[in-house]
Amino acid sequence: MTVKTFFYGLIASFGIPWLIMLAVPFASMRSQEAPQFDESKDEKTGVFQPMYSGRRGTGSLIYRQEGCAVCHTQVTRPTYAGNDVFREGQGGFAKDEVRGDTRRISMPFDYNGEDYANIGESRIGPDLGNYGRRLEVKAAAYNKAKAEELGLDIDKLGEHAFNIELAVYRHLFDPQINAKKHMLKTNCPSNSRFFDEAGVMGQESDLAVAVVDGVEVVPNDRGRAIMSYLINLKRDGEVPASMQYGRDKEKGSK
Ligand code: HEC
Repeated sequence: MTVKTFFYGLIASFGIPWLIMLAVPFASMRSQEAPQFDESKDEKTGVFQPMYSGRRGTGSLIYRQEGCAVCHTQVTRPTYAGNDVFREGQGGFAKDEVRGDTRRISMPFDYNGEDYANIGESRIGPDLGNYGRRLEVKAAAYNKAKAEELGLDIDKLGEHAFNIELAVYRHLFDPQINAKKHMLKTNCPSNSRFFDEAGVMGQESDLAVAVVDGVEVVPNDRGRAIMSYLINLKRDGEVPASMQYGRDKEKGSK
């Protein structure tokens, strides 16, 4: 091998990956434009901008600091790269009672308000991009069954209703045993560092996840922020028909 071919080889082995992995994605993504509503299909015009609530900034930061993204993704891939849109509840639901077919792939605007897009490194645990919405569906099903069981109206369930916040706290504190009562039992590692023992005893806290030696264990600030972030991970807003997966896009947008 001559010195010349060696250097050409060297340049090619660094240059080609640089081109494919950095230059091309940068060029194609640097000037992303917000999707527009199309009057003929969406019956409205304007720019689509997803709305988010909850402790998005701090929650996202804590999620990153705690390494949740090592095991959890928050991205629904396009169909050519995987079958994510067909996973019920990941990028939406095929038959949402109110919104119809809400399935769609992820886009850069899904990470608005976060300094860093937690797209995730591996899928050891389930994708969390639409976790908040899945919880709502679960809560609605639970409440419906409970209302039938108790012979009550669904909005008069009171303390029997599914408490999403408490369920998420219980899952974070002890995903394997404590979360069972709320049907959220998983094999996620315990995140008990989001909880502190409450110093003062008095009226029982609504958010106590456990009682250790007579002292209640309640979420701390970081726990409250991550809970708020998790329950607001939703992809259920109204999106332009062009972004929906539904084969029949006109019907899908209804
Ligand atoms: C070592 C890998 C790992 C890490 C780190 C991890 N998880 Fe998990 N998580 C899992 C696994 C595995 C499951 C699901 C197991 C099952 O279904 O039984 C899971 C399940 C979950 C679920 C339930 C998802 C669903 O759809 O029901 C939530 C919420 C969750 N994890 C949140 C977190 C948060 C928040 C963090 C960071 C504080 C975190 N996880 C860190 C592995 C991990």
